[in-house]
Formats: sequence, structure tokens, C-alpha cells
Amino acid sequence: MFESIIIVVAHRGFSAIYPENTVLSFRKAIELGVDFIELDVRQTKDNEIIVLHDEKIDRTTDGSGFVKEMTYKEIQRYDAGRWKGYSGEKIPHLKEVFEAMDSNTRILIEIKQCDTEKLIKVIDDCNFRDRVFVGSFNLEYVKQIRNISPEIVTSLISSSIPENLIDLIASGIRKIDINFNYLTKISVKNLLSRGFIINGWTPDTEEDIIRTIQTGAQFITTNRPDILKKILSKNEEG
Ligand code: G3P
Ligand code: CA
Repeated sequence: MFESIIIVVAHRGFSAIYPENTVLSFRKAIELGVDFIELDVRQTKDNEIIVLHDEKIDRTTDGSGFVKEMTYKEIQRYDAGRWKGYSGEKIPHLKEVFEAMDSNTRILIEIKQCDTEKLIKVIDDCNFRDRVFVGSFNLEYVKQIRNISPEIVTSLISSSIPENLIDLIASGIRKIDINFNYLTKISVKNLLSRGFIINGWTPDTEEDIIRTIQTGAQFITTNRPDILKKILSKNEEG
């Protein structure tokens, strides 16, 4: 049994089963009742903001090439679901994901590569400013978002416990998304006591998810939101 309230974040949607970063994957995560979906954004050659993890489309589509060297229209030619057994999905424009959302679920946007002004424009065009968090491994991007839209919650994404805590505090960055393998009760307590919100990514087995919950992390990003939701309901039943 544990007392903590956990915010469930579906990593690239329900990506253990469905093709990552597609509308199908996000819909399936929403059906599970997750709190957030997580997605990655990149910018095409013609300056459209699309949802894709890798810098190339090769791994997750039947096409090939670098996103930044392709137009949005070119990218739309390729299937982004067949590799996972769900043909017919496309690499979505960020706007399409906003349009597919229900009214409750929020979105954790990870900037992989894009113009931050352009990203904020898409968010504003869809009136999603109060439904998104924005994070990145690249601190410069996070600082730019803070400057453009200080009301948006931002996070530094990090593979381990970051050392530049003072810089983060001074920049108004209050959330840190950390590889779950680096989280312990002691490290989380230390970060909580400095005023940070802690988000562990991406435990996917029951054992790893429970271990991450026990560290005190408040947000958990996982490819198996189904397993995390089951653990949480069992806990509530007592
Ligand atoms: O939420 C953090 C996580 O998404 C970072 O890793 O490589 O899956 O984008 P990656
Ligand atoms: Ca990501």
C-alpha cells in the first residue's frame, strides 16, 4: 500500500501496444483514463510542427529521410503504423493531436527540435496553453519557452539527477523528468525539498513501476499505462 497520488503519463501514447506518437496511440491511452499523454515534436522543412521521436522517419514509417529535410506533405505519404501492425496511421501534425484530445487529458510536449515561437503559435491557435506542459533535454529550449510563455509549466528532461539546480530555480523551471533508474527515496526527497516536481520515466514492468512509485516521484511516464493504472486501482481498493 502507498498513499501517494500519482499522475499517469502515457509515453508516446499507449506505445507498448500501439504505434508510438500516432493519434491511435494517443486515443488508446486516453481510453485508459491517463492524466497526460507524452509526445515528441520536430519541425519539417516547411516549418510545420509534427509529432515524431527520431530525427529520421525510417524506424517508425515505411519511408526514409530526415524530418528537417522533408515537407509536411512528403511526410504524409508514409505509413506510421504498419511497423507495429496498425496500418493507416500517419505522422501527425501537432494540431491533429490537439483535435483528437478529449476534454480532460493533458499533454506533455517534449521538444526534440523546433522553433519555440512556432510551437507556441500552434498551441495558441488551438487554445491549448492551459492544457500543456513543455519539456526538453535541451535546457535552452526550456528557457525559451519560459521567456515566451511563463504561465506554461516547463520541465528539464534529464537522463540522471541534474547538477544545475540553482540555474533551474532561477529560470523558473520547477519540474524535472528523470530516468527512473536514477531515482531513490533519498534523491527524490532532496529534490522535493528544493521545490521541484519529480517525474520518473519510463518504468514499464510492474516491479519497476512499483519501485518508482515508492521513491516518491509524483509523475510517472510509462509505455505501459495499463499496468500503472492497474497498480493504482488495486492500491485504492486496499
Ligand atoms: O519523458 C521523457 C522521455 O520521453 C525521454 O526520452 O527518448 O523517449 O524522448 P525519449
Ligand atoms: Ca519523449
